[in-house]
Amino acid sequence: MDELVALCKRRGFIFQSNEIYGGLQGLYDYGPLGVELKNNLKSSWWKSIVYERDDVEGLDTSILTHPDVLKYSGHQETFTDPLVDCKSCGLRFREDQIPDQCRGEELTEPREFNLMFQTNVGPVIDDSSIAYLRPETAQQIYINFKNVLDSTSRTLPFGIAQIGKSFRNEITPRNFIFRVREFEQMELEFFVLPGEDDKWHRTWVDNRIEWWVNQGIPKDKLQLLDVTGDDLAHYSKSTVDIMYQFPHGLEELEGIANRTDYDLGSHTKNQNDLNINASVMKNTDSNTRLAIQNENNEWIVPYVIEPSAGVDRGVLAIINEAFATENLENNKQRTVLKLKKHLSPIKAAIIPLKRNNQDQVNLAHNIKSSLQKYQIGRVVVENTGNIGKSYRKHDEIGTPISVTIDFDSIEKDTVTVRDRDSMKQEIISLDRIEKYFLEYYADI
Ligand code: GAP
Repeated sequence: MDELVALCKRRGFIFQSNEIYGGLQGLYDYGPLGVELKNNLKSSWWKSIVYERDDVEGLDTSILTHPDVLKYSGHQETFTDPLVDCKSCGLRFREDQIPDQCRGEELTEPREFNLMFQTNVGPVIDDSSIAYLRPETAQQIYINFKNVLDSTSRTLPFGIAQIGKSFRNEITPRNFIFRVREFEQMELEFFVLPGEDDKWHRTWVDNRIEWWVNQGIPKDKLQLLDVTGDDLAHYSKSTVDIMYQFPHGLEELEGIANRTDYDLGSHTKNQNDLNINASVMKNTDSNTRLAIQNENNEWIVPYVIEPSAGVDRGVLAIINEAFATENLENNKQRTVLKLKKHLSPIKAAIIPLKRNNQDQVNLAHNIKSSLQKYQIGRVVVENTGNIGKSYRKHDEIGTPISVTIDFDSIEKDTVTVRDRDSMKQEIISLDRIEKYFLEYYADI
């Protein structure tokens, strides 16, 4: 983990947040390369969940959330972790995350600590203006169910997808970006007919594993965990967690829950007229029926299958998997980030051999512009004048191809393309570079 954290800072992937004022615990900022990697990961999810299917719509909702949403969802009551104080050092911990040095010390009885961040909306600060930063993106999807249904005329099964920030005041944030207080989720709420839920649950578990493998996580590094007992969320009939061997241990990367009709059943009006199976709080505030009519015009409250993945945990797993140290023939070593090419922050580095040779530099900028216009991702000119250093840098940040401009580029119209993983170099004519680039990225 230490090596990853150091690389992330050195190369501009991830920084401690608010660092110049001492930092805020459990918060991180994504730097110039981190934001590209994160955007690429989110875009890969969106393509797979929304664009490549015909049964999912997208959504982008507000973060500030009406307290009734979180009252009827059960978060106000149950979104808590057990908190204990160490009477010796005065620090507070989650009951299951007490550090070794406090284990023998006197600890208070655990008490429930609600993880939601509360704020006020508007200029009056009192109970009537309380709102929360959403603890998951899912709730806003449920409360928009009728809006999406009315505007798209969907029938079951169909899904609504959202990517966005969620906030949890974790008692003990830790392990870099694994457990943080502000993070991003990629959530799909997939609405199905009751009775078809188990089948769809299995389908989505398989689908999600395949997607993670396509992001560069080998299948044998992923394990499925059937969540049971107290670990099962209050809304879930069954949950399967996709577990990944993070540097600090085997932990949850994504959860796929069968949330039954709990959520729509909780937020709907006229609950008594609907055949809701889940045990829900009596709702006296909702003004909307969250149900759908079947072919016999009967109202059905759909069941929900929810694949919910953390963007930040995804970034951590992907960097961890891609990170490699290789011995080279000249007794040297190189660090290389073997990212899948669709995730690489920089798609190509254009490197003039001589930084002061204006012909080479101009040509490098022309090539950059000609490749950048395809908007496949970021293309940069790397004008350090040290070709070895430039290759090492772009290996370390995962740039799949580098294009070197040398004297022959000016005299013979050729460039050298170097492959990150094999380090093989190929001389191609200048007029082929755009075609080469497009073919290389054709499948992303
Ligand atoms: N809507 C369901 C839900 O939020 P969850 O298991 O609490 O379920 C889903 O969260 C995913 O969000 C997790 O698998 C994880 O990837 C990510 N996640 C949850 N809490 C997190 C935290 N404090 N820091 C980073 N990621 C987190």
